[in-house]
Amino acid sequence: MDSLEQRLSECSPTYGMDPLEARSLIQLMRLMAHLPPPPDPFGLFPRYGLLRQSFLEAIEMGDWKGIEGSFLALYSHLHCYRPPYTVKERASVLASGGYLCHAGGLSPVLKAGPHLDTDSVSLDLGAGNGLQGLFLQFLYPHRRSIQVEISARLLEAGRLLGSWMGLPDAAMEWVCADLLEVVIPRAHFVYLYRPLRPEGPGLSFYKRLAHSLRNSPVGTVVFSVADCLSPHLPSSFKLFYDDGHLCCFRNE
Ligand SMILES: C[S@@+](CC[C@H](N)C(=O)[O-])C[C@H]1O[C@@H](n2cnc3c(N)ncnc32)[C@H](O)[C@@H]1O
Repeated sequence: MDSLEQRLSECSPTYGMDPLEARSLIQLMRLMAHLPPPPDPFGLFPRYGLLRQSFLEAIEMGDWKGIEGSFLALYSHLHCYRPPYTVKERASVLASGGYLCHAGGLSPVLKAGPHLDTDSVSLDLGAGNGLQGLFLQFLYPHRRSIQVEISARLLEAGRLLGSWMGLPDAAMEWVCADLLEVVIPRAHFVYLYRPLRPEGPGLSFYKRLAHSLRNSPVGTVVFSVADCLSPHLPSSFKLFYDDGHLCCFRNE
């Protein structure tokens, strides 16, 4: 444990949080405190330096609420709230009515640990710049992390973030595609945050995804934020966690 990790551990509350999740959170904080500002060819992170400075100052002060708040601000900024869609991409996103690049938050990332091992393949359907998958790969190194996203520039930004974080290229697969058309890759851990409205063409995506999970191995896990998938999931998928934001299902 280095001195920063020790300092963060001492500041973090000793109650109310799962110890494994607390450990993962501290690993992410430590990563972000150590890394220099990210490569930014598309001008997506104009406030990164400022927000990182506030985060470092909060660590210096040793106040957990300040540390947590400033870290979340840094995460949200890096996630990229205003996606640099082309005109065509924006028209497709608006037509299928999903959420734009809203951040799924850290809780899915922190809760994923027990469901990923070195042989796992994870999949984010509508990945934005892939920050969720990059964090998963950093915290729980696994065979491959597949990111499917309609925005080519977000994916390119994500690829650069992967190198910035020191992740092996081979562990990350970047698929620029429209979810309405893509052949859904097989994965042990499927993550999505309402990429499409569950009506019209969007509804057919959720049905197709559910169908592709029909013959998945026992133990396959789905994390669905603002869940639209569960009405279509095969009955072998059982809900094991629901906090009103994130629903988690396992194929039993
Ligand atoms: C709510 S964000 C989720 C981002 C990330 N997965 C997370 O949880 O933080 C939904 C993402 O789906 C993408 N998206 C929307 N429509 C899409 C489509 N038709 N094909 C592929 N991606 C799409 C958006 O660009 C956006 O990045």
